Amino acid sequence: MSEDGQVVLVVDFGAQYAQLIARRVREARVYSEIVPHTITAEEIRARRPAGLILSGGPKSVHVPGAPQLDPHIYDADVPLLGICYGAQLVAQQLGGEVSPTGKGEYGRTSLAVTNSSRILGDLPPTSNVWMSHFDSITAAPEGFAVTASTAEVPVAVLEDSGRAIYGVQFHPEVAHTERGQQVLERFLFDVCGCRPTWTMTNVIDSSMEAIRAQVGKERVICGLSGGVDSAVAAALVHRAVGDQLTCVFVDTGMMREGEAEQVTETFRGQFHVELVHVKAADRFIEALNDIDDPERKRKIIGETFIRVFEETASQFEDARFLVQGTLYPDIIESGTSDAAKIKSHHNVGGLPEDMNFELVEPLRNLFKDEVRTVGEELGLPEEIVWRQPFPGPGLAVRIIGTITRERLETLRAADAIVTEEIRRAGLYRELWQSFAILPATVHSVGVMGDERTYAHPIIIRAVTSDDAMTADWARLPYEVLERLSSRIINEVPGVNRVAFDITSKPPGTIEWE
Ligand code: XMP
Repeated sequence: MSEDGQVVLVVDFGAQYAQLIARRVREARVYSEIVPHTITAEEIRARRPAGLILSGGPKSVHVPGAPQLDPHIYDADVPLLGICYGAQLVAQQLGGEVSPTGKGEYGRTSLAVTNSSRILGDLPPTSNVWMSHFDSITAAPEGFAVTASTAEVPVAVLEDSGRAIYGVQFHPEVAHTERGQQVLERFLFDVCGCRPTWTMTNVIDSSMEAIRAQVGKERVICGLSGGVDSAVAAALVHRAVGDQLTCVFVDTGMMREGEAEQVTETFRGQFHVELVHVKAADRFIEALNDIDDPERKRKIIGETFIRVFEETASQFEDARFLVQGTLYPDIIESGTSDAAKIKSHHNVGGLPEDMNFELVEPLRNLFKDEVRTVGEELGLPEEIVWRQPFPGPGLAVRIIGTITRERLETLRAADAIVTEEIRRAGLYRELWQSFAILPATVHSVGVMGDERTYAHPIIIRAVTSDDAMTADWARLPYEVLERLSSRIINEVPGVNRVAFDITSKPPGTIEWE
């Protein structure tokens, strides 16, 4: 909740839409939360939101079982904005008409403002908006004015400003809608009377208070993985309770070059956090001996991690609290907002639930971009705050075949070159992930100087993505590819060929294993 208790609730009729809307609302510095569409009028009243936004969702309100809203919510005296499916629901539930006209709209559409409109404000007479609907609102309910239309759709915006109920058929939350943010802000500031007070500085202050209230004078443990979430969570808890925090960093030996040093330097050197650096590479490599099956690798690494972590944590008998870098999307996706699933999704760092700790989850209301902003404000280095995602099992699932020290060294050296060159080209933040893969089961013939070689290839993988669910291979400039190829072959012993993976997801996955 924001400092002044103000919240806008986004009713979820389709998770991807709801999350994007919630993020846009927060970008306007108004705190928002996502609630399920089964929420009742009573529950809404109890939350006292400043406004409600109904998200887009399934194609048609006519499909049997199409999700509905408790109709008493319309009488709850809370300003309401329906978007796409949400707008159709408003029309249908309040007595208007929604019909399958056969004139759906997909993509960029010109919106014409036809009447003076509170929600559209000073939008120009026509502007481009993004549409994605099959059914159309063919008649607005009684009491509603129709204030905009498109070539195909007579009712593109409807509003009853007396009751503060609004519906827009287009998606104001997507970047393709020219003045989308402006429309959302009209709703937030002019209709709901919100103030733009949700800032990361306020978030830091209020989470510090919450952390102190939760843990009192007790000892707190935090597992650091090298990734942004655990780093920001640790830095935040450290700012709140100082040396009550002990961090545990399990170095699995499957990390990228310089990663372990970066974590220890940052947390020990810069933040003066008590940090236990468990150098467990030998143990992991031994446990992985002769294993080439990807899922077995994951399982072994996961189990070894838990064992090492438990052994380390048991040295701190007085510790009652464990910090987890759970984020808001983890909670939404686990389907319930009050019982956060431990972040174990095929992830090293997932800990068994029978460990006797109470969880401290200071990031559980934040989206990833907000976590990065908090990280920056807390003074974490750029390399950690903007680090690309990295799988928990690390380099083990990027070596195709069995894991040996030598192979890890080869891959680590090639991967470091990829990161360095991608950074140098200014592409690191733009790419979702960029890394090297070592297919250690493959040898190919090459020639270097006068000698014939028989060595491994390195595959370069670089993808763009928003959420890792889908991804496209990145069109890296030829000059960058050329530098990568020549540097990797010249500088990494045992490699005589470089290939670039041009597979999108689907059908490929991002990782090779
Ligand atoms: P895929 O390869 O399934 O990956 O397209 C999607 C995203 O998940 C990451 N990934 C993992 N992360 N443990 C993790 O913590 C894993 O075992 C794992 N496997 C894949 C991958 O890097 C990408 O960001």
